[in-house]
Amino acid sequence: MEIIIQVDAESATAIAAEMIVRLLREKPNAVLGLATGSTPLRLYRSLVHKKLDWRKVTTFNLDEYLGLPKTHPGSYYHFMWDNLFRHLNISPKNVHVPDGMPKDAMKFCAKYEQQIVAAGGIDLQVLGVGGDGHIGFNEPTSSLTSRTRIKTLTPETRKDNARFFDGMDRVPHHVITMGLGTIMEARQCVLLAFGSKKARAVAATIEGPITANVPASILQMHPNTKVCLDKGAAAKLKRADYYHWVFENKPRWEAA
Ligand code: F6R
Repeated sequence: MEIIIQVDAESATAIAAEMIVRLLREKPNAVLGLATGSTPLRLYRSLVHKKLDWRKVTTFNLDEYLGLPKTHPGSYYHFMWDNLFRHLNISPKNVHVPDGMPKDAMKFCAKYEQQIVAAGGIDLQVLGVGGDGHIGFNEPTSSLTSRTRIKTLTPETRKDNARFFDGMDRVPHHVITMGLGTIMEARQCVLLAFGSKKARAVAATIEGPITANVPASILQMHPNTKVCLDKGAAAKLKRADYYHWVFENKPRWEAA
């Protein structure tokens, strides 16, 4: 893991945006894994303003609420089209968001995994982290090798996400999410976290033991993951000075 602490969310986001710009320029048919929620919004806004060609890009979103149609304003399908896809020249057939209303959910999940493989695997996976340490909707105690499947949200996550719905009662209990094993197969990951509300989960993810109780901690086993943080999210890191030094003193061959 490479830990990058910036003064604010804006500059931490700029690093992730640059990774995507570079990838799409080097590989116009890249496969991106995408997240929803508040964290990546700045990133998506910034990507919309870059001059990039998305015609050959394929995307796979991490998750979707089960029982919500695509038209529902709280659905992640709606979120992604509203905040990103409609502003790009991406081909709709290359966009994949898990279906919130599948006829056969188990079959759908197996097919989603196959589609990722058929696309050549995910080149770069964008991640946010929940206050309980979840990535995608892999809640605490998720199997560290899990694949795309149905999960049940914790009360904490439902409360956190109630802001996207008309009240807590309307937040679905069930979701479809890529598994931790699916995420770990991405060639590169970038985890973004901003604000002191994320500090505890971030410290546990980076400096705690690898445990299913903090699903994001599995990223310690990933060979190519960057974690881009603002000061608030980094506030509980014990080795922050070391991470700063490493970032500011990269050998020339690595900084390039
Ligand atoms: C959503 C997802 C989740 C969020 C996490 C943080 O697609 O993958 O893991 O990243 O719940 O949400 P925000 O960014 O709203 O704090």
